[in-house]
Amino acid sequence: MEKLIGKKLNTSVFISGRGSNLKSLIKYSKLKKSKIEIKLVISNYKLAKGLEIAKKNKIKTKIIFYKKNSSENKLLMLLEKNKIDLVCLAGFMKILSKKFIKKFNKPILNIHPSLLPKHKGLNTHKKVLKNKDSFTGATVHLVNSRLDSGKIILQRKVKVSKKDTELSLANKVLKIEHKLYPAALDKFL
Ligand code: GRF
Repeated sequence: MEKLIGKKLNTSVFISGRGSNLKSLIKYSKLKKSKIEIKLVISNYKLAKGLEIAKKNKIKTKIIFYKKNSSENKLLMLLEKNKIDLVCLAGFMKILSKKFIKKFNKPILNIHPSLLPKHKGLNTHKKVLKNKDSFTGATVHLVNSRLDSGKIILQRKVKVSKKDTELSLANKVLKIEHKLYPAALDKFL
């Protein structure tokens, strides 16, 4: 992607839950140096806490009950209508189809709570503990048609200690995620 000069990209963030990464992206988008403007937050779950964060920040929200074909067409129309140039997945628990990615034809980024290519998919912290990894971390990557497999933009790691549990790891990694997503956008755009 060409580096942007002076223009903010219309961005949509897709969520399914808590929205702490959404919150960090909103904070980042308000910085002068940021190259994104969050125009639309999409959730596949109407009770997602993140929707409240969006509303508090006066960002338009939409709920899409996700069933692949029909909802993806709706989603594409919404993105087009809102002139969205970039999608950031932030805890979005659905897998976008190859067709969707191709039709949208603009960058889609995701944040994953592991040092990819290690531990794709769910239950990453459990896998880290089971594998006795000495480090874990988070990754921001481009989304392609294979789960958690697109080009890596940025990673940050954190040490796993003997005392760590799934919960303590999730908290440690989440802290990193909140800095990593903005840093990855700075690098990518
Ligand atoms: C994060 O750990 C993210 O890496 C993963 O889902 C979690 C979402 O958390 N994909 P939040 O909704 O951003 O608080």
